[in-house]
Amino acid sequence: MKRSIEHGKRTGFATLQKGGINFDSFPMRLFAKGNGRQWNPADIDLSQDARDFAAMTDDERWWTCSLGAQFMAGEESVTQDLQPFVAAMAAEGRIADEMYLTQFVYEEAKHTEAFRRWFDAVGIIDDLHEYIEPNDHYMQIFTKELPDSLYALGSDPSPRNQIRASVTYNHIVEGTLALTGYFAWQKVCAGRGILPGMQQIIKHIGDDERRHMAWGTFTCRRHVAADDSLWEAVDERMQELLVPAMGVVTETFDQYEGDVPPFDVDMNELAEYAMDKVGRRLSAIESARGANVRTIDLDASPEVLEERFHTEDEAQLAAVS
Ligand SMILES: [Fe+2]
Ligand SMILES: [Fe+2]
Repeated sequence: MKRSIEHGKRTGFATLQKGGINFDSFPMRLFAKGNGRQWNPADIDLSQDARDFAAMTDDERWWTCSLGAQFMAGEESVTQDLQPFVAAMAAEGRIADEMYLTQFVYEEAKHTEAFRRWFDAVGIIDDLHEYIEPNDHYMQIFTKELPDSLYALGSDPSPRNQIRASVTYNHIVEGTLALTGYFAWQKVCAGRGILPGMQQIIKHIGDDERRHMAWGTFTCRRHVAADDSLWEAVDERMQELLVPAMGVVTETFDQYEGDVPPFDVDMNELAEYAMDKVGRRLSAIESARGANVRTIDLDASPEVLEERFHTEDEAQLAAVS
């Protein structure tokens, strides 16, 4: 008899059935990889960061706090807003995805912890809302687009809503905003030889985020392979969000109006970096059109793509440090 493991309809258990769980499936491989790469934010020494932060100019300190506050509030948001996706996987009876997403949520919580520890270590304990609230695009993405598209899964976890949620969460918030911001910041810190603790934090977060991104690409791929009309849903959500996402970045630069921002951060370079990655991930999703859904479940290409991005980043970082 066919047993159900869907939430609310359970007649059996995935682990008890013949063959058990497929450890070769894409989400189980990500899960095992993540289990092997645990790190503890409390182990990172932030004493040099406190000295480097104290030695910065006021402008640089403002910029650093602004970037850190955006990252920290972002990590807190994604910790909360991923939870409906875990429930959506349970409702679909996809135990491997459900298991992987529990690790994913935990890692976001750990990223949140790492930033809060960093701010405490450099002596910033005042309210930080002033750094994000004037940024309308930031507020639109993190207090509206992200939670709305994720919590829509609660009443309707359809493939279309999963795609809208994944594009918003994985491809815009993680892929366009977080990974781009982290890379730019890593480059500044490595180039100047400052904030070694923050550099370590970002290295670990980047490692976790590569698995998160790979899962997002995988999830869009499996839906697009199963129903070709859903490719349009990917494209549509992307078009809706690209302008506000780029707005998050440009608003941070607006106040410098032609002046060079602290640390010589180059906005155009940042935008190019983001667009290059978004374009290549979209191609990876598009390549799933017409593919056999079974092969998608075992296909490691979304992970390979993220590893390739990593190798490219490493080469750029080595060149500046
Ligand atoms: Fe994160
Ligand atoms: Fe993430």
